[in-house]
Amino acid sequence: MTTSKAITVQKLHPTFGAEVRGVDFSNISDEIFSEILAVMAVHGVCVFRSSGLDDLSHVEFSKRMGELDDVKRYMTQGRKPRLPYFELFDAGNVDDKGNAVAPDSARAHFGKGNALWHVDSSFNPRRASFSLLRAVQLPPPNNGGNTDFADSRRAFDDLPENLKQELLENNYVGAHTIAQSRKLGSPEYFKDLDPSKEKMARHYLVQKHEPSGRMNLYIAAHCHHIEGVSADKSQELIDTLMKHATQEKYTLSVEWQNPTDLIIWDNRCVLHRANGGTFEGRYVRDLRRTTVHDDGPMAWGLNNSTSDREDYVSKANLAAATNSS
Ligand code: OGA
Ligand code: MN
Repeated sequence: MTTSKAITVQKLHPTFGAEVRGVDFSNISDEIFSEILAVMAVHGVCVFRSSGLDDLSHVEFSKRMGELDDVKRYMTQGRKPRLPYFELFDAGNVDDKGNAVAPDSARAHFGKGNALWHVDSSFNPRRASFSLLRAVQLPPPNNGGNTDFADSRRAFDDLPENLKQELLENNYVGAHTIAQSRKLGSPEYFKDLDPSKEKMARHYLVQKHEPSGRMNLYIAAHCHHIEGVSADKSQELIDTLMKHATQEKYTLSVEWQNPTDLIIWDNRCVLHRANGGTFEGRYVRDLRRTTVHDDGPMAWGLNNSTSDREDYVSKANLAAATNSS
């Protein structure tokens, strides 16, 4: 598909995801920028090979997409960010000495939750729209480390009719906390962490994706329960929907190929996960992410828009979020 003389769009999957070519990130006109947003609205995930972006230009480009989230609220207890801008989330596996984190380290255990299907920031009162993830240093080829995506708009469309009607009629609310995905990711390490004690961010389970006008299933490994139903029903619903939305036919695996490769995804219409591999514990995989605050009508879900995001980061899950998620 060709959108203009300047950029070309190569589909990566029958229903979503595209590789976009011909964008010169050192000089993006308003017209090209609008085209990128339009392509994002349709495809949900865009891959830009060898973008040439560095830390500063990554942050600057991201700011054109909206107000950026930052890591300041995690920088308590003397923690210092490794990266030079507060807007950069450290999504890689690099330890303080510049090596790959040890598999038995706290960081590695906190990171395991990212290998579960999720959307970024559903555990925050104000959710995220776009995430922009950029490669800085990659493991040697054939050591894994892909990022996988799932098409949650198509998954909604394809739900069995009775379940779809149930969701539409009940207007279910999902209650999210990052503690939930950390515990699921490494149950033994987090055996004393009780997600039910955390402050929950409340977001509707089914929402319209404003940029495309299509309905979306807003579900993630951070989702602790569905409000207003029994615990059993809630668990059954979460399991059914997660399983449904992440069937292989709805998923796409993107290989990181070169430093400065950039993937942008829209958390309001796709899920993602880190796909592990033999690089873990052996090779550096340095990925850095900016996260854009949603500015749509559903951005704050049912949460108070004056609520402080710090409330949602307990001591128990503090270290989790310095990473990414
Ligand atoms: C993220 C994330 C996946 C990966 O940065 O939000 O989930 O493959 N990353 O590192
Ligand atoms: Mn993530």
